Amino acid sequence: MAGFPHLRLRRLRRTEALRALVRESRVDVGDLIYPVFVVEGKGIKQEISAMPGIFRLSPDQLDAEVEEVARLKIPAVLLFGIPEQKDETGSSAYAPGGVVQQAIRTIKKSVPQLLVFTDVCLCEYTSHGHCGVVVGDQIDNDRTLPLLAKVALSHAEAGADIVAPSDMMDGRVKVIRESLDKNGFQHIPILSYAAKYASAFYGPFREAAESAPQFGDRLSYQMDYHNGREALREIEQDIAEGADIIMIKPALAYLDVIRQARNTFGCPLAAYNVSGEYAMVKAAAEQGWLDERKVVFEILTAIKRAGADIIVTYHAKDFATWMAEER
Ligand code: PBG
Repeated sequence: MAGFPHLRLRRLRRTEALRALVRESRVDVGDLIYPVFVVEGKGIKQEISAMPGIFRLSPDQLDAEVEEVARLKIPAVLLFGIPEQKDETGSSAYAPGGVVQQAIRTIKKSVPQLLVFTDVCLCEYTSHGHCGVVVGDQIDNDRTLPLLAKVALSHAEAGADIVAPSDMMDGRVKVIRESLDKNGFQHIPILSYAAKYASAFYGPFREAAESAPQFGDRLSYQMDYHNGREALREIEQDIAEGADIIMIKPALAYLDVIRQARNTFGCPLAAYNVSGEYAMVKAAAEQGWLDERKVVFEILTAIKRAGADIIVTYHAKDFATWMAEER
């Protein structure tokens, strides 16, 4: 008879040593990617109001930041650019001297072993704030594709290790793969934001990156949050087009999608613990309503338990610092 009183699940919870022995998932600092916002200019270090502890940095301020990231043993950063000039087609996104391109060169000089991921999108660079080319009141998928390929290629040329398209245009992984291959970057992987939902949790990011759409919303290209099966179709498509790592975004309201993707696909799986998720924790912690450290450990572990291998998170530096203290 396998039941109480023979069976007592509490037996394995009695001491910390026992609990640690039977632990199913763990977060390692080596799983994390830290997002970094780079703004054009000099001597700029501006805290983002809805994201305490996260700054917009000009390229000359990056050395200290990436040295700290490397010292904490965080293996990677994900770069976002805030350009001086915005236009209809986001041309500063693929300018060889663009802000992200400058940042990549700076980082590769100061901390060459740090992996540099770059966000490939147009929204921070377009005057209208959309992730693609606007024709009338529509976001034109096919006219956007060659521009995204140019952005990805210019990042690879500047020395990026991995490019990460976040625009949600159909077919972008394919054109980016083709353009990288044609230009001698067969070895550069693509992390695709395969299942990216139209989410209100991006609010603080849009302040940070000055990327809020000036008209309408992103519902015609980002996914509808009512849908789960559709995420699997998006992921399947991106893998077929050549994505090496797939990402689900946001993370916390989408743990079910992460789990389904883990059960369905073999490729490395990332999850993006987005700006709004970070802001909620920070706000509550500042009020004294939550224990920040405990909540962050629980959140990141939940994302791993759901099936993610890699987590993009603004908590990365704090988490790494706490982990070092616990040892
Ligand atoms: C750009 C992009 C966004 C985020 C990552 N890349 C914003 C958006 O789609 O509006 C959000 C990241 C975050 O909220 O932390 N397309």
